[in-house]
Amino acid sequence: MKYHEPRLISLTNAFVVTALYVIFFITGVLIISPGALHHFYTILFLLASAVILFVCSFLVFRYTLEKFIYSKIRLVYKTIHNIKTKKGNAKPPRIDLQFLEHVNQEVEEWQHEQSREIEQLRMLEQYRREFIGNVSHEMKTPLFHIQGYILTLLDGGLDDPAINREYLQRTEKNIERLIRIVEDLDEIAQLESGQIKLNVTRFDILALTREVIELLEMKALKKEIGMGIARQEKPVFVEGDKEKIRQVLTNLIENSIRYGNVKGRTKVSFFDMDEHILTEVTDNGIGIEPGELSRVFERFYRTHRGRSAFAKGKGLGLAIVKHILEAHQQTINVRSTPGVGTTFGFTLKKSKVY
Ligand SMILES: Nc1ncnc2c1ncn2[C@@H]1O[C@H](COP(=O)(O)OP(=O)(O)OP(=O)(O)O)[C@@H](O)[C@H]1O
Ligand SMILES: [Mg+2]
Repeated sequence: MKYHEPRLISLTNAFVVTALYVIFFITGVLIISPGALHHFYTILFLLASAVILFVCSFLVFRYTLEKFIYSKIRLVYKTIHNIKTKKGNAKPPRIDLQFLEHVNQEVEEWQHEQSREIEQLRMLEQYRREFIGNVSHEMKTPLFHIQGYILTLLDGGLDDPAINREYLQRTEKNIERLIRIVEDLDEIAQLESGQIKLNVTRFDILALTREVIELLEMKALKKEIGMGIARQEKPVFVEGDKEKIRQVLTNLIENSIRYGNVKGRTKVSFFDMDEHILTEVTDNGIGIEPGELSRVFERFYRTHRGRSAFAKGKGLGLAIVKHILEAHQQTINVRSTPGVGTTFGFTLKKSKVY
């Protein structure tokens, strides 16, 4: 309701009352003494009384109307205020005419806020449903494998030296995979809830990258992938949680091997960006289709190419990477050309002390 509406309604009502009064007055005079209408004083009396009646009825109408509206609006405002502040005993504010406009605005804002919240809840609900579906799907495969091996062993395979050891080893591998899924999910949950406190220190990311590359060398060798660091002699000091950044580098370099071609190449480069250091991990592997680029950081998301290149991927590594960097208030981006290669780049705060 607009604040000037009570005034308009009161004006109309006062006008109607005054018009009726004038009609009755003229009719009355015409019946009683028609000649009196020609007297100046009669006309003056009619005009003066009509003006007074108009003003008085306008004031009475407006007062009654506003009192009624205010009482209703105070109630509405009190309810909104209580919901907003989540208090049950908040006093309604004093309301004057201009305040009606303000209340109107607040109600509109509140309505938008509520619609936004409902939309968010809907999205969360859909996300939750998808998440549960993904978790159960990811867990089903190793669980079915474990069940299959154990049933075969119980069905007599235990006494068959050709398979008993082999099947137990496969069972163990699947259990290991289940444990890794649970550990990754636990890590994501902790990062999301902000429970993980970062242990921020100053460290040399060049030395850390060398350590990670050394650890992954065996995996790279299996695919004859060469790994290297772009020309960089001096240490590159950054600020961050060293162990968490080790995990970021491990996940990115591991991906470059997994989704790299045989005899391919992985290169890590550092770029000085005044306040930040940009670290890039580049491969010349299978690449990612443009339509899938924005989705690779989602939990459990795996590209079509990725699935066929490495069936065992869980789709959790990049989600963890993104969370770790967000916890550092830093960013990660990806660019890729299918069939040519991929580059993941993330920033870290440059250490002020050199
Ligand atoms: N360097 C890359 N080149 C091509 N595709 C990639 C690359 N890195 C990631 N991807 C795609 O993004 C998906 C998500 O990667 P992510 O690291 O989150 O999961 P994953 O490697 O499948 O499993 P894990 O949780 O064990 O790391 C991969 O499945 C793959 O499809
Ligand atoms: Mg990965």
